[in-house]
Amino acid sequence: MTPPGGAAAAQAARRRTFAVISHPDAGKSTLTEALALHAQAITEAGAVHGKAGRRGVASDWMEMEKARGISVTSAVLQFAHRGCVLNLLDTPGHADFSEDTYRVLAAVDCAVMLIDAAKGLEEQTRKLFDVCRHRGIPVITFVNKWDRPGREALELLDEIEREFRLKPTPVTWPVGDAGHLRGLIDVREPGRMLRYTRTPGGAREAVEEPVPAERASADHGDDWVRATEELELLGADGAVHEEEAFLAGRSTPVFFGSAISNVGVRLLLDAVVDLAPAPAARELEGGGVRPVGAPFAGLVFKVQANMDRAHRDRIAFLRVCSGVFERGMTVTRAASGKPFATKYAHSVFGQDRSMVDTAYPGDVVGLVNAGALRVGDTLYAEKAAVFPPMPTFAPEHFAVVRPVDLSRSKQFRRGIAQLDEEGVVQVLVSDLRGDQAPVLAAVGPMQFDVVRTRMAGEFSAAVKLEELPYHVARGTDAGGAEALNRSRIVRGEALTRVRDKAYLALFPDRWQANSFKREFPDARLDHLVAAHD
Ligand code: G4P
Repeated sequence: MTPPGGAAAAQAARRRTFAVISHPDAGKSTLTEALALHAQAITEAGAVHGKAGRRGVASDWMEMEKARGISVTSAVLQFAHRGCVLNLLDTPGHADFSEDTYRVLAAVDCAVMLIDAAKGLEEQTRKLFDVCRHRGIPVITFVNKWDRPGREALELLDEIEREFRLKPTPVTWPVGDAGHLRGLIDVREPGRMLRYTRTPGGAREAVEEPVPAERASADHGDDWVRATEELELLGADGAVHEEEAFLAGRSTPVFFGSAISNVGVRLLLDAVVDLAPAPAARELEGGGVRPVGAPFAGLVFKVQANMDRAHRDRIAFLRVCSGVFERGMTVTRAASGKPFATKYAHSVFGQDRSMVDTAYPGDVVGLVNAGALRVGDTLYAEKAAVFPPMPTFAPEHFAVVRPVDLSRSKQFRRGIAQLDEEGVVQVLVSDLRGDQAPVLAAVGPMQFDVVRTRMAGEFSAAVKLEELPYHVARGTDAGGAEALNRSRIVRGEALTRVRDKAYLALFPDRWQANSFKREFPDARLDHLVAAHD
C-alpha cells in the first residue's frame, strides 16, 4: 500500500522546477528551444515564445503585446528527461522586465544562469542573481555562445567568483578558445573529449562523439594540453563540485556550450536532473514546514489579467508545493478562509492552454477565472497552511498617475487600488502629493503600460503618467522620511507604500542616496531586495 502522501512524494522526487536567468540576448529563447529539443517535450514544442517573427509565437493577449511582439506572460514548459519531469518557467526579459520576472523565482527550486561568453555578467543577470541569492536558490551556470569569439574561460570564472562571491566549479570545460571550440571535457570522465558535429541550422541535436585523450591530443595538440592544464589548476584550487556548497548557494557548477548549435545542451539537461534539487518541504509563515507528502498546498506566484480579451478572465499561476492537485477539487484560500473551486485548471504554455487533471509538487497550474486570487496567496486542502508573503522588490521606475477625466476619479481610485492589490505595480502616497496623485513604482517600465491599458480598458478611467526622475529606492522609517523631506542637499522624496505602509526613500541615483547618508548618518536606509549597487 502507498503510504499517505506517497504518490505526491514519489512524484515530487521526479520533478525539477527551474528557470533560466539571463540578460536579454544571452540566448535564453534559443537555449529553451534547444532544451526542449533534447528532452521529450510533454507540452507541444515549437511554441516557445520569443521575439516576433521567430519560430516562437508572440502572444496576442493584449493589444500592446501585439504591437511590441513580446509576451507579458510567463510560459511554463514541461518536458521529460531520463525519467524526470522538468518544469521550465520562463522569466520574461527584454522590455517586459518587471516584478513578475522576480516573482517567478519564488516558484522554482533552481536557476540556470546563462552567460554570453563575450559579455560575461550583465545587468539583468546581476539583478536576477541577487534575487536567487536572497531566496537561497541554487544556481547552475551555462556559458553560452562558445562557437564565436569571446572571453577566456578562466577570466569568466574569475568574474563570477569576484562579483557574486560564488565558487565556480566547472563540470564541463572547453577545448579551444571561444570561437575555436574543438570539444568539451566532462570533468567527471576526464580521459576523453566530447566532439560535436553541428547539424545545419542546429535544427536537430548535434551529434556528440567521445574522442579518447590520445586522439584529442593528436588532433588538437595545444588546445588539448591547455584545457587539461587549466583543469588541473582548477582542481588544485578546489574548484570541484560539492553538492552541499551548491545547494547552500556557495558554489555554482559551470557548463560551457553553444545553444544555437546544441553543443553542451545535453550535459546541461543532465545536470538539471542530476544536480538540481527536487521540490522539498516548504517553510510556512510562523514556523514549521509543509512536507511535499502533506495534503495539497500551493502558492500563487503570478496573476495575469485579460489573457483572453473575449472573456476578460484572470488567470492565477499556482505552484504546487505539497500533495496532489486534482482538477475539480475545492481548496481553501488561506487569506480569506473561503473555498475556491478549481474546475478550470490549465497548463499554460504560450498561448495554448490544455486542461490539467492532476499536478504534483513542482508543477505549475493556471487557474482561470481566478478573480479572487492574489499574488502570494496560499491555497490548501484539508490541513491549513500559509506560505510567507511574496517579497516586494526594489522599484527603479516611478511615475505620478492621474485620471485624464477628473469626473471619473471614483473609477480611478478603484482601479488603482485593484491593480495594487493584484501586484501589477506598487502604489506610493505622501501627504505632500495627496490622494489624487499617487506615485506608481515599478521594477520595469512595462508595468506602467499594463496600468495604462487596464485602467482605460477595464476601469474606464484613462490615466496619464508623469515619470519622476528617481531610480533608486531604499527602505526607511518615519524619522528617515522626515529627514529626507527636509534635506537641503539631496534631491529625493519619501513616500509610503500603500500595500504594507512601508516608508520608501527615493533618489535619482545611488550617489544621492549616499550623500543623504552622509548628511543624516543616523537616518535609516535599507537595501531592498534586488536593489543593486
Ligand atoms: P534571449 O532570449 O536571451 O534574448 O536571446 P535569444 O535566444 O533571442 O538569442 C539572442 C541572439 O543570440 C540571437 O541572434 C540568437 O540567434 C543568438 N544566439 C543564441 N545562442 C547562441 C549561440 O550559442 N551562439 C551564437 N553564435 N549565437 C547565439 P539574433 O541575431 O538576435 O537573432 P536570430 O536572427 O539569430 O534569431
